[in-house]
Amino acid sequence: MDLRNYVTIVPDYPKEGILFKDITPLMNDGAAYKYATDQIVKYAQEREIDLVVGPEARGFIIGCPVAYSHGVGFAPVRKEGKLPREVIRQEYGLEYGKDVLTLHKDAIQPGQRVLITDDLLATGGTIEATINLVEELGGIVAGIAFIIELTYLDGRDKLDGYDVLTLMQF
Ligand code: PRP
Repeated sequence: MDLRNYVTIVPDYPKEGILFKDITPLMNDGAAYKYATDQIVKYAQEREIDLVVGPEARGFIIGCPVAYSHGVGFAPVRKEGKLPREVIRQEYGLEYGKDVLTLHKDAIQPGQRVLITDDLLATGGTIEATINLVEELGGIVAGIAFIIELTYLDGRDKLDGYDVLTLMQF
């Protein structure tokens, strides 16, 4: 299956000059969503993943079905003020600005093998912050999986030395 057929390119969103890659058609199609999820589940199985971690909001859409299918838990990484208990925090730069990501302090047991998931690897800022959160709690980043990689933004440069899967590249 060619997943690129399920991505709609939206010009000038969220601002002029940006070609936004919309993956909602992929999720809207049961067969395509299952195919993409199954690729990442296979990747998780091969790496003996204990826990899936994903940043809001689209990281949840990818990570939760993978965690469910692989039979492990999911820990949400959220923007500041969204998690109710004690958190650790990381500032990060986005393709379109700056923000803070947080993770519950007890979300990961030291030594757990963690798969990080998100829909899109752009500049890599979001995922770099997520890696830092996981490692601060003693998690081992055993894999990182995305639906789409925007190769021209060089996000991979921030992921040197990590095991990375992207299902399609633009
Ligand atoms: C988007 C996307 C990734 C991130 C990729 O999320 O879902 O998480 O940007 O960009 P980067 O590689 O340059 O960091 P966004 O921050 O827009 O949040 P959302 O999923 O809640 O819309």
